Amino acid sequence: MLADEVVDCHVLVIGSGGAGVRAAIEASLYGDTLLISKTMVGKGGCTTMAEGGFNAVLRETDSCGIHFEDTMKGGAFLNDQELVNILVKEAPLRMGDLVKWGAVFDFTDSDEVAQRPFGGQRFPRTCYAGDRTGHEMMTTLVERLDSTNVTTLQEYTVIDLLKDDNRVIGAMALSEKGDLILLKADSTILATGGGTRVYDISTNSSSGTGDGFAIGYRAGAELIDMEMVQFHPTGAVFPYDARGRLVTEAVRGEGGVLLNNKGERFMKNYDPQRMELSTRDVVSRAIATEIQNGRGSPNGGVYLDVTHLPREQIETRLPVMLEQFLRFGVDIRVTPMEVAPTAHHIMGGLRITTECRTTLPGLFACGEVSGGVHGANRLGGNALAETQVFGRRAGDAAGKAETRQKNVDEAQVKRQQDRLDRFTRGTKSPSRVRMMLQQAMWDGANIFRTATGLRQALAAAGVLADKPLRAQTPRNLAECCIIENMCLTASLICRCALLREESRGAHVRTDIKQSHDAGHSPYGHTFISKKGQGIERRGVPE
Ligand code: FUM
Repeated sequence: MLADEVVDCHVLVIGSGGAGVRAAIEASLYGDTLLISKTMVGKGGCTTMAEGGFNAVLRETDSCGIHFEDTMKGGAFLNDQELVNILVKEAPLRMGDLVKWGAVFDFTDSDEVAQRPFGGQRFPRTCYAGDRTGHEMMTTLVERLDSTNVTTLQEYTVIDLLKDDNRVIGAMALSEKGDLILLKADSTILATGGGTRVYDISTNSSSGTGDGFAIGYRAGAELIDMEMVQFHPTGAVFPYDARGRLVTEAVRGEGGVLLNNKGERFMKNYDPQRMELSTRDVVSRAIATEIQNGRGSPNGGVYLDVTHLPREQIETRLPVMLEQFLRFGVDIRVTPMEVAPTAHHIMGGLRITTECRTTLPGLFACGEVSGGVHGANRLGGNALAETQVFGRRAGDAAGKAETRQKNVDEAQVKRQQDRLDRFTRGTKSPSRVRMMLQQAMWDGANIFRTATGLRQALAAAGVLADKPLRAQTPRNLAECCIIENMCLTASLICRCALLREESRGAHVRTDIKQSHDAGHSPYGHTFISKKGQGIERRGVPE
């Protein structure tokens, strides 16, 4: 065997955010489970950075039917209805698990889990722990994980899946020192999160590099709706190093207002009913339009103002925001913040069934790496719920899979060794290639898109993917693999964005004249795999 080490398990979970850890907890009920993560478990990934909240129907005055409708409408009716049904029905149960396991959410005076309003929802159904909800969730999940017999491999990077014919039988990974490890598994779960680090300005942690999309695609899985990239309306605009950092929607949920440089509450011109609590696609476009038309703030954003709110409300409900801006020299109790859209979430991903099975036997996916739940635009607060609902489902289905013989064809291991050897002889700096890619995507595949811009970004991703990347030391091998994943993820986004010749949800094609609205679109999902690509047609509703 060409690998340095071979490990066998029943379920392999790749990724240690909310979905991955929840999947591992569930899978551990069925057999040996291995959780592998390129970061420290519970420290990397996006869940721990999620601030605003977790949507769940908890009150009799709310209903799963309304949550379903809000999610479908918010997603411009591109969502997979079966997946949405599961999300809304099971979110309250998974919320209950977290509370049972010790998560400290905010409670009302009458001892119920508190809920706040979030954009595009007709009921305040977003549960929260101040503005550090994801952190509270991850702390609880990791504690729970510690009480299982799940084995964890931290700071190991999966570089590709392992296959026996068409079946996925595990993965190949690099240790921190650059050793190649084979991980054989009866079931493999991709829970690698998103990839908006392919953009110059993003809310994602540095680990949001789209690895799962690229790894799944290379193995032959089908992905859907990769063009659907959510730009969160409110990211920080300064200082330079903090650009794009999330300024939670909870700020608007608590009553924050958006103002342009004339002091106008400009959302009245874009969505007079919902104002700042419109859906993210609408608010992002509104902010981008204000900035483009010269009504922006000095640092290239607009103002997000909470100075009219009681100080105590800011201090208790938005403590992370308060502290973060104080570090930038802004006291949000007396001075408005400056914000602008930032790449936040990829709604598309691996096509899954209700049991999180992908189109490849043996491979499951859950969380942001999967597609279909959020359609063309995700509602704030639905992602944390998704991690728990579909993480549990993936772990359950993967755990129930049969134990089987797994034959490793050495040719695929040899191909990886050759790939790694090439990096030792390469000449191009991975960080330079990453920066060029991020800029090209920001320029060509942003909020407002045209075929010309998308083709330019796609061409850039192709050229950069061919650069001979240089790994200075064995530790840098993983970085080279990750940059390749970023180039591939970027190209999937651009290819699908070119396929969708309409504006829908977060995807706006300014070069296309359109007579239909989202509810009457003749199109369904875009799909892409090594076998081909296209866009589904669908019956146009009356
Ligand atoms: O704005 C936020 O707190 C983000 C929440 C989400 O993306 O669900």
